[in-house]
Amino acid sequence: MDLIRILLYFFIGCSLASLLWATLSLAPWVPAKKKDLPRIKAALALRSGETVYDLGAGNGRVAIYLAGQTSARVVGVELALPLYLICRGRWFFSRPPRPTFIFRDFFRLDLRAANAVYVFGLPEKLAGRFSRKLLSELKPSARVVSYVFPIAAWRPVRVDKETAADLPIYIYQLADQRRL
Ligand SMILES: C[S@@+](CC[C@H](N)C(=O)[O-])C[C@H]1O[C@@H](n2cnc3c(N)ncnc32)[C@H](O)[C@@H]1O
Repeated sequence: MDLIRILLYFFIGCSLASLLWATLSLAPWVPAKKKDLPRIKAALALRSGETVYDLGAGNGRVAIYLAGQTSARVVGVELALPLYLICRGRWFFSRPPRPTFIFRDFFRLDLRAANAVYVFGLPEKLAGRFSRKLLSELKPSARVVSYVFPIAAWRPVRVDKETAADLPIYIYQLADQRRL
């Protein structure tokens, strides 16, 4: 009985610590709106055989949608343990094609294979270490799609926001950023 209690406390501790770490690293968990999933897909403009990373996959909503609706390889990376477990649960109950979910800090992941990146993070976090990582690792042809918040000092190719009620989606081309 004591062992079960120790394991339970350990799990709760790890869960809380990873949630805090993820919040400080990029953003707390807030899911993209379901109605915006087709707009996110259109913004990413994924082609067959391409690889897209959802950096901070949350509950897996975006990654599962993209895997089902495109022929790209979709990788969702999540650092918060409870959210990662939700991703795995949704993965189990979803129909193929499915994304790959990785339980990791995306700052420790090599992104050179990515053709596109999707992110939903706080603007002050997107501006620093995050944008430097993308600039140093992504191919010039890679696209970056940032939901709601812009990446400061980057120049978007397009901002998708058709109506005043829409949340903005910022679309960047890596090659354009290197020239700044
Ligand atoms: C605002 S939510 C976005 C969730 C999802 N991408 C979406 O659009 O619905 C940000 C997510 O990033 C995760 N996160 C924050 N920092 C991270 C890191 N360094 N590595 C992996 N995931 C991280 C958080 O746990 C959270 O689930």
